[in-house]
Amino acid sequence: MRTYIADIVKKEGESINLSGWVSVRRDHGKLIFIDLRDMTGSVQVIFTPKSEKAHEIANTVRSEWVVSVVGEIKKRPDNMANKDSETGKFEILASEITVLNEAVTPPINILDDGYNIGEESRMKYRYIDLRRERLQKNLRMRFRVLKEIRDFLFKQKFTEIETPILSKSTPEGARDYLVPSRLYKGKFYALPQAPQQYKQLLMTSGFEKYFQIARCFRDEDTRGDRQPEFTQMDLEMSFVDREDVMALNEAMLIHIISTLYPEKEIQEVPFPVTTYKEAMEKYKSDKPDLRRDKNNPNLLAFVWVVDFPFFEKNDKGGWTFTHNPFSAAKREFTKDLQEKQNIANILTTQYDIALNGFEIGGGSIRNHDPKLLKSVLEIIGTSSESQERDFAHMFKALGSGTPPHGGIAWGFDRLMMILQNEPNIREVTAFPKTGDGRDLLMESPANVDIEQLTDLGLKLSKEE
Ligand code: AMO
Repeated sequence: MRTYIADIVKKEGESINLSGWVSVRRDHGKLIFIDLRDMTGSVQVIFTPKSEKAHEIANTVRSEWVVSVVGEIKKRPDNMANKDSETGKFEILASEITVLNEAVTPPINILDDGYNIGEESRMKYRYIDLRRERLQKNLRMRFRVLKEIRDFLFKQKFTEIETPILSKSTPEGARDYLVPSRLYKGKFYALPQAPQQYKQLLMTSGFEKYFQIARCFRDEDTRGDRQPEFTQMDLEMSFVDREDVMALNEAMLIHIISTLYPEKEIQEVPFPVTTYKEAMEKYKSDKPDLRRDKNNPNLLAFVWVVDFPFFEKNDKGGWTFTHNPFSAAKREFTKDLQEKQNIANILTTQYDIALNGFEIGGGSIRNHDPKLLKSVLEIIGTSSESQERDFAHMFKALGSGTPPHGGIAWGFDRLMMILQNEPNIREVTAFPKTGDGRDLLMESPANVDIEQLTDLGLKLSKEE
Protein backbone atom coordinates (compact mmCIF):
# COMPACT_ATOMS: atom_id res chain seq x y z
CA MET A 1 0.00 0.00 0.00
CA ARG A 2 1.20 3.49 -0.84
CA THR A 3 2.22 5.91 1.92
CA TYR A 4 1.96 9.67 1.32
CA ILE A 5 5.25 11.45 1.91
CA ALA A 6 3.79 13.76 4.59
CA ASP A 7 2.87 10.67 6.65
CA ILE A 8 6.41 9.28 6.94
CA VAL A 9 6.96 11.44 10.04
CA LYS A 10 4.68 9.03 11.95
CA LYS A 11 6.35 5.86 10.70
CA GLU A 12 10.05 6.01 11.59
CA GLY A 13 11.74 2.62 11.11
CA GLU A 14 8.97 1.18 8.95
CA SER A 15 9.42 -0.14 5.46
CA ILE A 16 7.05 1.71 3.15
CA ASN A 17 6.12 2.29 -0.47
CA LEU A 18 6.23 5.87 -1.86
CA SER A 19 5.14 7.05 -5.30
CA GLY A 20 5.77 10.37 -6.98
CA TRP A 21 7.99 12.49 -9.19
CA VAL A 22 11.77 12.84 -9.15
CA SER A 23 12.54 16.51 -8.44
CA VAL A 24 16.31 16.13 -8.51
CA ARG A 25 18.79 13.29 -8.73
CA ARG A 26 22.28 13.73 -7.31
CA ASP A 27 25.00 11.22 -8.00
CA HIS A 28 27.72 10.99 -5.35
CA GLY A 29 29.57 8.03 -6.82
CA LYS A 30 28.45 5.13 -4.72
CA LEU A 31 25.49 6.97 -3.24
CA ILE A 32 22.63 8.22 -5.39
CA PHE A 33 20.16 10.70 -3.92
CA ILE A 34 16.71 11.41 -5.26
CA ASP A 35 14.38 14.13 -4.03
CA LEU A 36 11.01 12.47 -4.39
CA ARG A 37 7.85 14.58 -4.48
CA ASP A 38 4.15 13.76 -4.20
CA MET A 39 1.11 15.95 -3.59
CA THR A 40 1.84 16.05 0.14
CA GLY A 41 5.53 16.90 0.27
CA SER A 42 9.01 15.76 -0.63
CA VAL A 43 11.71 13.60 0.89
CA GLN A 44 15.26 12.50 0.14
CA VAL A 45 15.67 8.88 -1.00
CA ILE A 46 19.10 7.18 -0.83
CA PHE A 47 20.29 4.33 -3.00
CA THR A 48 23.42 2.39 -1.99
CA PRO A 49 25.23 -0.29 -4.01
CA LYS A 50 23.98 -2.79 -1.40
CA SER A 51 20.62 -2.87 -3.17
CA GLU A 52 22.30 -3.47 -6.48
CA LYS A 53 19.27 -3.57 -8.82
CA ALA A 54 17.66 -0.49 -7.28
CA HIS A 55 21.01 1.35 -7.44
CA GLU A 56 21.35 0.49 -11.10
CA ILE A 57 17.85 1.76 -11.96
CA ALA A 58 18.26 4.89 -9.80
CA ASN A 59 21.30 5.69 -11.91
CA THR A 60 19.11 5.99 -15.01
CA VAL A 61 16.23 8.10 -13.67
CA ARG A 62 16.00 11.77 -14.51
CA SER A 63 14.07 14.82 -13.33
CA GLU A 64 10.28 14.50 -13.49
CA TRP A 65 10.26 10.74 -14.06
CA VAL A 66 7.45 9.02 -12.19
CA VAL A 67 8.67 6.29 -9.86
CA SER A 68 7.64 4.16 -6.95
CA VAL A 69 10.11 3.29 -4.24
CA VAL A 70 10.24 0.76 -1.42
CA GLY A 71 12.46 1.70 1.49
CA GLU A 72 12.96 2.18 5.19
CA ILE A 73 12.24 5.48 6.96
CA LYS A 74 15.32 6.71 8.84
CA LYS A 75 15.77 9.77 10.98
CA ARG A 76 18.50 12.01 9.57
CA PRO A 77 21.29 13.06 11.90
CA ASP A 78 20.42 16.42 13.47
CA ASN A 79 23.15 18.33 11.62
CA MET A 80 21.91 16.96 8.25
CA ALA A 81 18.19 17.49 8.83
CA ASN A 82 16.38 19.97 6.63
CA LYS A 83 14.66 22.12 9.24
CA ASP A 84 12.34 23.80 6.71
CA SER A 85 9.96 20.88 6.58
CA GLU A 86 8.82 18.08 8.87
CA THR A 87 9.68 15.42 6.28
CA GLY A 88 13.16 16.97 5.96
CA LYS A 89 14.05 15.39 9.30
CA PHE A 90 13.75 11.95 7.67
CA GLU A 91 15.14 10.11 4.67
CA ILE A 92 14.34 6.85 2.91
CA LEU A 93 16.90 4.09 2.51
CA ALA A 94 15.66 2.49 -0.71
CA SER A 95 15.63 -1.22 -1.46
CA GLU A 96 13.54 -1.15 -4.65
CA ILE A 97 12.57 1.34 -7.31
CA THR A 98 10.14 0.96 -10.23
CA VAL A 99 9.97 3.43 -13.08
CA LEU A 100 6.26 4.09 -13.76
CA ASN A 101 6.86 6.59 -16.53
CA GLU A 102 9.75 8.44 -18.09
CA ALA A 103 9.68 12.17 -18.86
CA VAL A 104 11.27 14.38 -21.46
CA THR A 105 13.62 17.00 -20.07
CA PRO A 106 11.31 19.59 -18.49
CA PRO A 107 10.91 22.56 -20.87
CA ILE A 108 10.69 24.95 -17.89
CA ASN A 109 12.19 24.94 -14.43
CA ILE A 110 9.58 24.11 -11.83
CA LEU A 111 11.82 24.11 -8.76
CA ASP A 112 11.65 27.86 -8.22
CA ASP A 113 8.73 30.28 -8.02
CA GLY A 114 8.68 30.74 -11.81
CA TYR A 115 8.10 34.49 -11.83
CA ASN A 116 11.08 34.98 -14.15
CA ILE A 117 9.94 32.52 -16.80
CA GLY A 118 8.21 34.02 -19.85
CA GLU A 119 4.42 33.69 -19.94
CA GLU A 120 4.51 31.97 -23.36
CA SER A 121 6.47 28.99 -21.99
CA ARG A 122 4.56 28.81 -18.74
CA MET A 123 1.19 28.78 -20.50
CA LYS A 124 2.23 26.42 -23.28
CA TYR A 125 3.43 23.89 -20.72
CA ARG A 126 0.89 24.81 -18.06
CA TYR A 127 0.49 21.14 -17.01
CA ILE A 128 4.14 21.21 -15.97
CA ASP A 129 4.08 24.78 -14.68
CA LEU A 130 1.32 23.70 -12.28
CA ARG A 131 3.71 21.21 -10.63
CA ARG A 132 5.45 24.23 -9.11
CA GLU A 133 4.99 24.33 -5.32
CA ARG A 134 3.68 27.89 -5.42
CA LEU A 135 0.91 27.05 -7.90
CA GLN A 136 0.06 23.81 -6.11
CA LYS A 137 -0.45 25.88 -2.94
CA ASN A 138 -2.52 28.51 -4.76
CA LEU A 139 -4.94 25.99 -6.22
CA ARG A 140 -5.21 23.98 -3.01
CA MET A 141 -5.94 27.17 -1.05
CA ARG A 142 -8.47 28.17 -3.71
CA PHE A 143 -10.33 24.94 -3.01
CA ARG A 144 -10.14 25.41 0.76
CA VAL A 145 -11.59 28.92 0.49
CA LEU A 146 -14.38 27.57 -1.74
CA LYS A 147 -15.14 24.88 0.80
CA GLU A 148 -15.25 27.44 3.60
CA ILE A 149 -17.70 29.54 1.53
CA ARG A 150 -19.92 26.52 0.88
CA ASP A 151 -19.90 25.46 4.54
CA PHE A 152 -20.59 29.01 5.73
CA LEU A 153 -23.50 29.55 3.35
CA PHE A 154 -24.93 26.09 4.02
CA LYS A 155 -25.11 26.99 7.72
CA GLN A 156 -26.89 30.21 6.75
CA LYS A 157 -29.55 28.16 4.88
CA PHE A 158 -28.41 29.04 1.36
CA THR A 159 -28.98 26.64 -1.54
CA GLU A 160 -26.32 26.27 -4.24
CA ILE A 161 -28.05 26.20 -7.63
CA GLU A 162 -26.48 25.94 -11.08
CA THR A 163 -27.81 28.16 -13.84
CA PRO A 164 -27.35 27.79 -17.61
CA ILE A 165 -24.16 28.48 -19.51
CA LEU A 166 -26.04 28.47 -22.81
CA SER A 167 -28.03 31.60 -22.22
CA LYS A 168 -29.25 34.69 -24.03
CA SER A 169 -27.44 37.85 -25.04
CA THR A 170 -28.40 40.60 -22.60
CA PRO A 171 -27.14 44.11 -22.03
CA GLU A 172 -25.03 43.74 -18.88
CA GLY A 173 -22.17 46.02 -19.75
CA ALA A 174 -19.57 43.93 -21.57
CA ARG A 175 -19.60 42.22 -24.97
CA ASP A 176 -21.09 38.70 -25.05
CA TYR A 177 -19.54 35.50 -26.32
CA LEU A 178 -22.02 34.05 -28.81
CA VAL A 179 -22.73 30.39 -29.55
CA PRO A 180 -24.46 29.65 -32.86
CA SER A 181 -27.44 27.31 -32.73
CA ARG A 182 -27.42 24.35 -35.13
CA LEU A 183 -31.12 23.59 -34.80
CA TYR A 184 -32.21 27.18 -35.21
CA LYS A 185 -29.88 28.50 -37.87
CA GLY A 186 -29.10 32.16 -37.63
CA LYS A 187 -29.96 32.24 -33.93
CA PHE A 188 -27.48 32.39 -31.08
CA TYR A 189 -27.07 31.50 -27.46
CA ALA A 190 -24.82 33.73 -25.40
CA LEU A 191 -22.49 32.71 -22.59
CA PRO A 192 -23.54 34.45 -19.37
CA GLN A 193 -21.64 37.55 -18.24
CA ALA A 194 -23.07 36.72 -14.80
CA PRO A 195 -26.06 34.71 -13.53
CA GLN A 196 -27.82 38.01 -12.70
CA GLN A 197 -31.23 37.39 -14.26
CA TYR A 198 -31.36 33.71 -13.34
CA LYS A 199 -30.61 34.44 -9.70
CA GLN A 200 -33.35 37.04 -9.61
CA LEU A 201 -35.75 34.55 -11.19
CA LEU A 202 -34.80 32.06 -8.42
CA MET A 203 -36.02 34.68 -5.94
CA THR A 204 -39.33 34.73 -7.83
CA SER A 205 -39.31 30.93 -7.43
CA GLY A 206 -39.10 31.25 -3.66
CA PHE A 207 -35.61 29.92 -2.91
CA GLU A 208 -34.96 33.06 -0.84
CA LYS A 209 -31.24 32.34 -0.35
CA TYR A 210 -29.31 31.27 -3.45
CA PHE A 211 -25.62 31.07 -4.15
CA GLN A 212 -23.41 29.67 -6.87
CA ILE A 213 -19.74 29.43 -7.69
CA ALA A 214 -20.42 30.70 -11.17
CA ARG A 215 -18.30 30.85 -14.29
CA CYS A 216 -18.80 34.14 -16.14
CA PHE A 217 -17.79 35.12 -19.66
CA ARG A 218 -17.05 38.61 -20.94
CA ASP A 219 -15.50 39.45 -24.26
CA GLU A 220 -13.35 42.33 -23.07
CA ASP A 221 -9.67 43.17 -23.01
CA THR A 222 -7.71 40.97 -20.65
CA ARG A 223 -5.67 42.55 -17.82
CA GLY A 224 -3.87 41.36 -14.72
CA ASP A 225 -7.12 41.26 -12.79
CA ARG A 226 -9.40 40.47 -15.69
CA GLN A 227 -9.90 37.27 -17.70
CA PRO A 228 -12.40 36.55 -20.48
CA GLU A 229 -13.78 33.78 -18.28
CA PHE A 230 -13.63 34.05 -14.54
CA THR A 231 -15.35 32.84 -11.40
CA GLN A 232 -17.83 34.63 -9.19
CA MET A 233 -19.09 33.78 -5.76
CA ASP A 234 -22.60 34.88 -6.64
CA LEU A 235 -25.46 35.17 -4.15
CA GLU A 236 -28.96 36.59 -3.87
CA MET A 237 -31.32 36.92 -0.90
CA SER A 238 -34.99 37.81 -0.49
CA PHE A 239 -36.52 40.22 2.03
CA VAL A 240 -33.24 42.03 2.74
CA ASP A 241 -31.88 45.54 2.88
CA ARG A 242 -28.51 46.71 1.65
CA GLU A 243 -27.10 46.44 5.19
CA ASP A 244 -28.19 42.78 5.53
CA VAL A 245 -26.30 41.73 2.40
CA MET A 246 -23.24 43.75 3.40
CA ALA A 247 -23.22 42.30 6.94
CA LEU A 248 -23.46 38.69 5.73
CA ASN A 249 -20.63 39.15 3.24
CA GLU A 250 -18.45 40.92 5.75
CA ALA A 251 -18.95 38.11 8.26
CA MET A 252 -18.11 35.51 5.60
CA LEU A 253 -14.90 37.29 4.55
CA ILE A 254 -13.77 37.67 8.16
CA HIS A 255 -14.55 34.01 8.82
CA ILE A 256 -12.55 32.82 5.79
CA ILE A 257 -9.54 34.93 6.68
CA SER A 258 -9.45 34.10 10.37
CA THR A 259 -9.88 30.37 9.60
CA LEU A 260 -7.50 29.94 6.66
CA TYR A 261 -5.17 32.96 6.82
CA PRO A 262 -4.46 33.51 10.54
CA GLU A 263 -1.21 35.30 9.62
CA LYS A 264 -3.18 38.10 7.96
CA GLU A 265 -4.42 41.22 9.70
CA ILE A 266 -7.66 42.93 8.68
CA GLN A 267 -6.91 46.62 9.10
CA GLU A 268 -10.37 47.70 10.23
CA VAL A 269 -13.41 45.76 11.50
CA PRO A 270 -16.24 46.49 10.91
CA PHE A 271 -15.14 47.32 7.37
CA PRO A 272 -15.21 51.08 6.74
CA VAL A 273 -17.98 52.38 4.47
CA THR A 274 -17.40 55.35 2.18
CA THR A 275 -19.64 57.01 -0.37
CA TYR A 276 -18.63 57.12 -4.01
CA LYS A 277 -18.43 60.92 -3.74
CA GLU A 278 -16.11 60.82 -0.71
CA ALA A 279 -13.91 58.15 -2.30
CA MET A 280 -13.51 60.14 -5.51
CA GLU A 281 -12.81 63.38 -3.66
CA LYS A 282 -10.43 61.92 -1.12
CA TYR A 283 -8.71 59.09 -3.03
CA LYS A 284 -9.58 59.80 -6.68
CA SER A 285 -10.67 56.17 -6.95
CA ASP A 286 -13.88 54.20 -6.44
CA LYS A 287 -11.78 51.29 -5.16
CA PRO A 288 -9.33 53.03 -2.85
CA ASP A 289 -6.36 51.26 -1.33
CA LEU A 290 -6.67 52.16 2.36
CA ARG A 291 -3.69 50.14 3.66
CA ARG A 292 -1.70 52.14 6.22
CA ASP A 293 1.42 50.25 5.09
CA LYS A 294 1.49 49.11 1.47
CA ASN A 295 4.66 47.05 1.98
CA ASN A 296 3.04 44.67 4.43
CA PRO A 297 1.91 41.58 2.43
CA ASN A 298 -0.34 40.40 5.26
CA LEU A 299 -2.39 43.56 5.68
CA LEU A 300 -5.93 43.51 4.28
CA ALA A 301 -7.84 46.78 3.98
CA PHE A 302 -11.46 46.20 3.01
CA VAL A 303 -13.75 49.13 2.24
CA TRP A 304 -17.38 49.27 1.15
CA VAL A 305 -18.22 51.93 -1.40
CA VAL A 306 -21.90 52.99 -1.53
CA ASP A 307 -24.18 55.67 -2.97
CA PHE A 308 -23.05 55.50 -6.59
CA PRO A 309 -24.93 57.58 -9.14
CA PHE A 310 -27.41 55.28 -10.89
CA PHE A 311 -26.87 56.80 -14.34
CA GLU A 312 -24.07 58.49 -16.24
CA LYS A 313 -23.94 60.11 -19.66
CA ASN A 314 -22.79 57.87 -22.49
CA ASP A 315 -20.64 59.12 -25.35
CA LYS A 316 -23.73 59.74 -27.48
CA GLY A 317 -25.13 62.16 -24.90
CA GLY A 318 -27.80 59.75 -23.62
CA TRP A 319 -27.95 57.99 -20.23
CA THR A 320 -26.52 54.62 -19.33
CA PHE A 321 -26.48 52.68 -16.05
CA THR A 322 -23.24 52.74 -14.03
CA HIS A 323 -23.53 49.16 -12.73
CA ASN A 324 -26.62 47.14 -13.33
CA PRO A 325 -29.99 47.92 -14.97
CA PHE A 326 -31.75 45.68 -12.44
CA SER A 327 -30.70 47.71 -9.38
CA ALA A 328 -33.16 49.70 -7.30
CA ALA A 329 -32.66 53.39 -6.58
CA LYS A 330 -32.15 54.39 -2.96
CA ARG A 331 -35.58 54.81 -1.40
CA GLU A 332 -35.48 58.62 -1.38
CA PHE A 333 -34.95 58.60 -5.16
CA THR A 334 -37.73 56.16 -6.06
CA LYS A 335 -40.04 59.01 -7.04
CA ASP A 336 -37.38 60.57 -9.31
CA LEU A 337 -36.87 57.21 -10.98
CA GLN A 338 -40.61 56.73 -11.39
CA GLU A 339 -41.02 60.21 -12.86
CA LYS A 340 -37.73 59.99 -14.79
CA GLN A 341 -36.60 63.33 -13.38
CA ASN A 342 -33.38 64.65 -11.73
CA ILE A 343 -31.68 61.69 -13.38
CA ALA A 344 -28.10 62.77 -12.69
CA ASN A 345 -28.88 62.95 -8.96
CA ILE A 346 -30.45 59.52 -8.54
CA LEU A 347 -28.34 57.29 -6.32
CA THR A 348 -28.46 53.49 -6.58
CA THR A 349 -28.49 50.89 -3.81
CA GLN A 350 -25.27 49.49 -5.35
CA TYR A 351 -22.49 48.52 -2.95
CA ASP A 352 -18.99 47.63 -4.10
CA ILE A 353 -16.34 46.10 -1.92
CA ALA A 354 -12.69 46.94 -2.50
CA LEU A 355 -9.67 45.20 -1.01
CA ASN A 356 -6.19 46.72 -1.15
CA GLY A 357 -7.13 48.81 -4.16
CA PHE A 358 -8.97 46.10 -6.16
CA GLU A 359 -12.72 45.87 -6.65
CA ILE A 360 -13.40 42.37 -5.37
CA GLY A 361 -17.18 42.46 -5.45
CA GLY A 362 -20.34 44.37 -6.06
CA GLY A 363 -24.09 44.06 -5.81
CA SER A 364 -27.31 45.86 -5.07
CA ILE A 365 -30.91 45.70 -3.98
CA ARG A 366 -33.03 45.12 -7.10
CA ASN A 367 -36.17 46.64 -8.50
CA HIS A 368 -38.83 44.06 -7.71
CA ASP A 369 -41.48 46.43 -9.04
CA PRO A 370 -41.72 45.96 -12.84
CA LYS A 371 -42.75 49.62 -13.30
CA LEU A 372 -39.43 50.76 -11.87
CA LEU A 373 -37.40 48.42 -14.10
CA LYS A 374 -39.34 49.88 -17.01
CA SER A 375 -38.38 53.40 -15.91
CA VAL A 376 -34.70 52.41 -15.85
CA LEU A 377 -34.94 50.97 -19.35
CA GLU A 378 -36.72 54.04 -20.63
CA ILE A 379 -34.13 56.37 -19.11
CA ILE A 380 -31.33 54.49 -20.87
CA GLY A 381 -33.27 54.67 -24.12
CA THR A 382 -34.15 50.99 -24.59
CA SER A 383 -36.72 50.83 -27.39
CA SER A 384 -40.04 49.16 -26.68
CA GLU A 385 -39.12 46.36 -29.13
CA SER A 386 -35.92 45.54 -27.29
CA GLN A 387 -37.71 45.84 -23.95
CA GLU A 388 -40.14 43.23 -25.25
CA ARG A 389 -37.39 41.09 -26.83
CA ASP A 390 -34.84 41.19 -23.99
CA PHE A 391 -36.85 41.75 -20.83
CA ALA A 392 -40.36 40.30 -21.31
CA HIS A 393 -39.51 37.37 -19.03
CA MET A 394 -38.25 39.72 -16.31
CA PHE A 395 -41.37 41.89 -16.44
CA LYS A 396 -43.57 38.80 -16.24
CA ALA A 397 -41.56 37.34 -13.38
CA LEU A 398 -41.52 40.58 -11.40
CA GLY A 399 -45.29 40.73 -11.86
CA SER A 400 -45.71 37.15 -10.56
CA GLY A 401 -45.09 37.64 -6.86
CA THR A 402 -41.38 38.43 -6.73
CA PRO A 403 -40.25 39.36 -3.21
CA PRO A 404 -37.94 42.31 -2.51
CA HIS A 405 -34.42 40.99 -3.02
CA GLY A 406 -30.77 41.86 -3.43
CA GLY A 407 -27.38 40.23 -3.72
CA ILE A 408 -23.76 40.47 -4.59
CA ALA A 409 -21.02 38.77 -6.59
CA TRP A 410 -17.38 38.50 -5.58
CA GLY A 411 -14.65 38.30 -8.17
CA PHE A 412 -13.38 35.05 -6.68
CA ASP A 413 -10.12 35.01 -8.68
CA ARG A 414 -9.31 38.54 -7.53
CA LEU A 415 -9.93 37.65 -3.90
CA MET A 416 -7.65 34.61 -4.21
CA MET A 417 -4.97 36.69 -5.96
CA ILE A 418 -4.82 39.06 -3.01
CA LEU A 419 -5.03 36.38 -0.33
CA GLN A 420 -2.20 34.45 -1.99
CA ASN A 421 -0.11 37.62 -2.51
CA GLU A 422 -0.02 37.11 -6.26
CA PRO A 423 0.46 39.86 -8.85
CA ASN A 424 -2.34 38.69 -11.21
CA ILE A 425 -5.30 36.29 -11.37
CA ARG A 426 -3.56 33.92 -13.79
CA GLU A 427 -1.49 32.69 -10.83
CA VAL A 428 -4.61 31.43 -9.04
CA THR A 429 -6.36 29.97 -12.11
CA ALA A 430 -5.49 26.50 -13.40
CA PHE A 431 -5.68 27.14 -17.14
CA PRO A 432 -5.94 30.90 -17.75
CA LYS A 433 -5.83 32.74 -21.04
CA THR A 434 -2.75 34.82 -21.85
CA GLY A 435 -2.74 38.60 -21.63
CA ASP A 436 -3.95 38.69 -25.24
CA GLY A 437 -6.76 36.20 -24.72
CA ARG A 438 -5.21 33.01 -26.10
CA ASP A 439 -5.01 29.50 -24.69
CA LEU A 440 -1.49 28.51 -25.69
CA LEU A 441 -1.85 24.99 -24.34
CA MET A 442 -4.84 23.96 -26.47
CA GLU A 443 -4.07 26.63 -29.06
CA SER A 444 -7.39 28.36 -29.00
CA PRO A 445 -9.11 30.26 -30.47
CA ALA A 446 -8.68 27.93 -33.42
CA ASN A 447 -10.02 27.26 -36.88
CA VAL A 448 -12.84 24.75 -37.27
CA ASP A 449 -13.71 22.45 -40.16
CA ILE A 450 -15.78 23.95 -42.92
CA GLU A 451 -18.35 21.17 -42.28
CA GLN A 452 -18.88 22.44 -38.75
CA LEU A 453 -19.62 25.90 -40.07
CA THR A 454 -21.97 24.52 -42.71
CA ASP A 455 -23.85 22.55 -40.03
CA LEU A 456 -24.38 25.80 -38.19
CA GLY A 457 -25.40 27.67 -41.31
CA LEU A 458 -22.38 29.96 -40.99
CA LYS A 459 -20.02 31.32 -43.63
CA LEU A 460 -16.89 33.34 -42.94
CA SER A 461 -16.89 36.64 -44.76
CA LYS A 462 -13.23 36.12 -45.66
CA GLU A 463 -11.04 33.00 -45.45
CA GLU A 464 -8.59 33.57 -42.57
P1 AMO B 1 -19.82 42.83 -11.58
O1 AMO B 1 -19.88 42.97 -13.05
O2 AMO B 1 -19.37 44.01 -10.78
O3 AMO B 1 -21.25 42.44 -10.98
O4 AMO B 1 -18.90 41.58 -11.22
C1 AMO B 1 -18.67 41.19 -9.88
C2 AMO B 1 -17.18 41.06 -9.61
O5 AMO B 1 -16.58 40.17 -10.53
C3 AMO B 1 -15.22 40.55 -10.75
N1 AMO B 1 -14.97 40.65 -12.20
C4 AMO B 1 -13.97 40.03 -12.86
N2 AMO B 1 -12.97 39.25 -12.42
C5 AMO B 1 -12.11 38.75 -13.35
N3 AMO B 1 -12.20 38.98 -14.68
C6 AMO B 1 -13.19 39.77 -15.17
N4 AMO B 1 -13.28 39.97 -16.49
C7 AMO B 1 -14.13 40.34 -14.25
N5 AMO B 1 -15.21 41.15 -14.37
C8 AMO B 1 -15.71 41.32 -13.13
C9 AMO B 1 -14.99 41.85 -10.03
C10 AMO B 1 -16.40 42.36 -9.80
O6 AMO B 1 -16.48 43.16 -8.64
N6 AMO B 1 -24.26 40.45 -11.50
C11 AMO B 1 -23.46 41.48 -10.85
C12 AMO B 1 -23.35 41.24 -9.35
C13 AMO B 1 -24.58 41.60 -8.58
O7 AMO B 1 -25.11 42.72 -8.77
O8 AMO B 1 -25.02 40.78 -7.75
C14 AMO B 1 -22.05 41.44 -11.46
O9 AMO B 1 -21.70 40.59 -12.23
O10 AMO B 1 -14.36 41.59 -8.79
